Amino acid sequence: MPDEFSKIPAALKSCNARLAIVLGSGLGPFAESLNSQTVIPYGDIPGLPVSKVPGHAGRFLVTEMAGHPILIAQGRVHLYEGWTSGEVTRSVRLMHQIGITTLILTNAAGSANPEFPPGEWMMLSDHLNLTGQTPLHGGPNFFDMSEVYSRDLRTAFRSQATRLGMPLHEGVYAALPGPQYETPAEIRMLRTLGADAVGMSTVPEAIQARALGLQVCAFSCLTNWGAGLSEGTLNHEEVSETGRHAANALVNLLHATLPEVS
Ligand code: HPA
Repeated sequence: MPDEFSKIPAALKSCNARLAIVLGSGLGPFAESLNSQTVIPYGDIPGLPVSKVPGHAGRFLVTEMAGHPILIAQGRVHLYEGWTSGEVTRSVRLMHQIGITTLILTNAAGSANPEFPPGEWMMLSDHLNLTGQTPLHGGPNFFDMSEVYSRDLRTAFRSQATRLGMPLHEGVYAALPGPQYETPAEIRMLRTLGADAVGMSTVPEAIQARALGLQVCAFSCLTNWGAGLSEGTLNHEEVSETGRHAANALVNLLHATLPEVS
């Protein structure tokens, strides 16, 4: 799509990063753990949608890790805000256009697996696209999706997690459009369908990235039990708070693994 972005800021265009990380709700501490950053608000890029959800900053950061430039997308837009799948994946097409070849996606998710407790991380082995949308609607058609989440990247992250002694689950993420959380019956259904975690993002971005030939890896911060798996009710503040507490473990994992894969 050559005309999708009429004006890409020079700092982004010439950043030379090959690897980008999309930070979901509450993962700001990762951005704060890196220094010498160039900040480019999404609002400075004509055509890029900007989120209004608390906890989603909405800016690119260009920074460096182990001598390599990396790009951080802090905050994303969601289907439940009213954006289409094509709109929520504009940033992925932009990142591809400026030369990104590896995309790490992060999100907050509810656990649908009794063995995956809140506060811990799950690396996606696969997904269920239950959003009812795809960014590829209208073409290009028939993309192979048999390995959306790179086996090589998963192996690299897995071995560093083991070395760090970090619990890292691996499982299937079900993406729903939201914005409401699920009912207990829906969580039972999702579990029956093979989901280990459930959330409202990531899958459109992963589909778009694969269609553009990017290598993808994704992580869910399990912020709460899915509805019906615990006594309590769910709320966004609690989800964000758990995300903030769990962020450190992923920060350490990224610091340990990225030099190897970027
Ligand atoms: N369901 C859907 N999305 C979520 C959840 C959940 O329980 N927690 C965080 N994001």
